[in-house]
Amino acid sequence: MNKLLNQNTQEPVPDILPVVPTMDVVVFPHMIVPLLVLDEKIIRGINQAMQESKLVLLLAAKNFVDNQGAIGTGDLYHVGTIATIMRIIKVPEGGVKILVQGVSKGYAREIITQEEMLHARVEKFELEQSDLDELTPQIRNIKAVAEKMASSGYTFSPDFHIILSKMQDPDKIADFILSHLNLNIEQAQQLLETSNQQELLDAIYHYLNKEIEVAEIQEKIKSNARESMNKAQKEFYLREQLKAIKQELGEDDAEEIDIMRESLKQLPVSDEIKTEIMRQINRLERTAPDSLEATVTRNYLELIFALPWGKKTEDNLDIQHAKKVLDEDHYGLKDIKDRILDFISIRNLKKDGYAPILCFVGPPGTGKTSLGKSIARSLGRKYGRLSLGGVKDEAEIRGHRRTYVGAMPGRFIQAIRKAGSTNPLLIIDELDKIGADFRGDPSAAMLEVFDPQQNGTFYDNYLGVPFDLSEVMFIATANTIDTISEPLRDRMEIIELSGYTPEEKINIAKQHLTAKAIADTGLENRGIQITDEVIQEIILNYTRESGVRQLERIIRKLCSKAARALVEKGTLPTFTPENLDQCLGPRKFLEDDLGVEDQIGISNGLAWTTYGGEVLKIEAVLMPGKGKLTLTGQLGDVMKESAQAAVSYARAHAKEFGINNKLFNTTDLHIHIPSGAIPKDGPSAGITLLTSILSAYTNRPIHADYAMTGELNLRGEVMPIGGLKEKVLAAKRNGVAHVIAPGKNKNDLIGMEEITKGIDIIWVSHVNEVLERVLEPIQKGK
Ligand SMILES: Nc1ncnc2c1ncn2[C@@H]1O[C@H](COP(=O)(O)OP(=O)(O)OP(=O)(O)O)[C@@H](O)[C@H]1O
Ligand SMILES: [Mg+2]
Repeated sequence: MNKLLNQNTQEPVPDILPVVPTMDVVVFPHMIVPLLVLDEKIIRGINQAMQESKLVLLLAAKNFVDNQGAIGTGDLYHVGTIATIMRIIKVPEGGVKILVQGVSKGYAREIITQEEMLHARVEKFELEQSDLDELTPQIRNIKAVAEKMASSGYTFSPDFHIILSKMQDPDKIADFILSHLNLNIEQAQQLLETSNQQELLDAIYHYLNKEIEVAEIQEKIKSNARESMNKAQKEFYLREQLKAIKQELGEDDAEEIDIMRESLKQLPVSDEIKTEIMRQINRLERTAPDSLEATVTRNYLELIFALPWGKKTEDNLDIQHAKKVLDEDHYGLKDIKDRILDFISIRNLKKDGYAPILCFVGPPGTGKTSLGKSIARSLGRKYGRLSLGGVKDEAEIRGHRRTYVGAMPGRFIQAIRKAGSTNPLLIIDELDKIGADFRGDPSAAMLEVFDPQQNGTFYDNYLGVPFDLSEVMFIATANTIDTISEPLRDRMEIIELSGYTPEEKINIAKQHLTAKAIADTGLENRGIQITDEVIQEIILNYTRESGVRQLERIIRKLCSKAARALVEKGTLPTFTPENLDQCLGPRKFLEDDLGVEDQIGISNGLAWTTYGGEVLKIEAVLMPGKGKLTLTGQLGDVMKESAQAAVSYARAHAKEFGINNKLFNTTDLHIHIPSGAIPKDGPSAGITLLTSILSAYTNRPIHADYAMTGELNLRGEVMPIGGLKEKVLAAKRNGVAHVIAPGKNKNDLIGMEEITKGIDIIWVSHVNEVLERVLEPIQKGK
């Protein structure tokens, strides 16, 4: 062990030194500090040191122990500083005050507690040295930062910078800076114990930088405070002026409050609610008119008086009228219109009869929202609409408490306010896209809204008083019922709208969309023509959708082009299927999109998404390899599993299909499903996957004019699937001639002649029936 030398005197440091605990300071080498010592035991140690080397070991106490309590050895850190006692003065209270200067760091290997004294066996605390060249840049940084600190308002002793700029030794620089910082005990002790030079310098550098940041922020806060003070004074002055002006004009706030009190008397609400509102009015009167609180209360009262308390519209229950309105607005949708007429009939017989909550479910653009609007019109009810898409916070439905800054009532109260009656028809759009997160579950709040037992006293947190929603007629719309919670689904009557067939779309366009677009663009009575052929062309080659939203948009586009031509050139253009691309750009879909050619490994599958049906190609290809299966195209887990099941089926029946068994070990199989944007999951691609796989293994091309859907089990049975109606419509849209579907789904299409017209549907129960049809027979010589 290196012998420890007193750096001041170059004399050896004794092995055992008296210990002086320090309470609220960590003393670094070179630091000079006064310490007050009251403990007899410690004073005895100091006295002993004074007679010998004058050295003591300063050890910081871990927790702040107040001077009365005795310090145990366990309370002391073991790394401390050896210090010389420079001066000792007796204080009248009985203790001593010593002035010490740190000499070097020391490590207490052992702390020895004797009856009358506290000693430690001391060893040198070695700093792991680094190459001076490596340290130089860091030293330069530290000096620069220390310089900067002075300029950002940090006060050091006056000659700090002069001394620092002259220093070269890294250890000394570290100790010197440390002795000037306001560190807390833990920080200081940690730095004292850092045994690597480089690390120590890094830590100091970071600390200094942080200090600068803090100093800068403090400075900023100070100056902000100064500014806002001035602003507040200015505002006060302006407000006083405003008040004076108002008084001159006779627009005193007092009047506003009187008016409110008067209106409250007229309000048809219960006494309880009246009391609450009155409380708020009084509160407004008491608060300074321009304070934030007054604004909050005023907004609240404004809402209260804007709500249609007790205002109701009379329902028009004339069935013939309703029928007329519904037919005027929408083509087809017979079942749904019937259901609505049923509802009106019940109302005729029983005024407060059972009012179901209807939920329209179907692909986008199929008229769900607009149907709701039309029902409101036929009943003569006011109409309001709110969308729950992406609503995650329960407060969006139940409102925020008013204590919140920027608090608002929930969507229902807002919608009622807008609608202006207590019995409007409210359309709740995108019920399926309601979310949930840590701020509560909005669908639980919806349950309350829909519950006839509870919605008579619907409580909105912002409103703070109950509001009667029981007379509201709710109509919800959704693209799928899968994501709607079970209890919510239970409270509604689900009415499904499927996509439209091309013929229906043509009729909708002719009877509704074109007329609407013409009226909206001011082209009435100007003789603009949009022929059936043009509409057909748009439906086939510009929009392949389940609903008619794109179709409507494109017809509007044509009308606006025509309006422009009329204004600019004075003539109306004639649209033909051939010249459409001049207005609308190149056709988005071409008729031969699906590929009319029969190919090996490529089959047409049918998928169902919330956007309606889709035709998907499934591609399988073999390449030399070792029997690996690769799946690409962003497939979901269930789809991946059905691909594996299909491969297993093919292998199990290799002989039957005439597959050379060797192929399974000498080739890799790659299955790909293009169309990245369509989510692909579910088991319904089973038979399609198998078809592609077998085609790849046997080189038999697949008939391109077939599309199929069906789950496959390992016995080869074709299991039922969902969304068949939409899938058939998609097949028709895409010009498929034959659709293969599970026989167990046959009931799905009963009575749907509109949909099944013009397409050949083949019902199957075993996969062999599929393969016989779609795979071309083996050709000799291949
Ligand atoms: N059968 C129909 N007859 C006349 N117009 C229709 C018919 N179906 C839809 N439309 C029109 O198509 C447009 C789109 O309909 P709407 O906005 O109601 O769709 P949606 O079903 O609510 O779709 P989303 O699920 O995207 O909300 C509307 O202008 C609507 O009037
Ligand atoms: Mg809608």
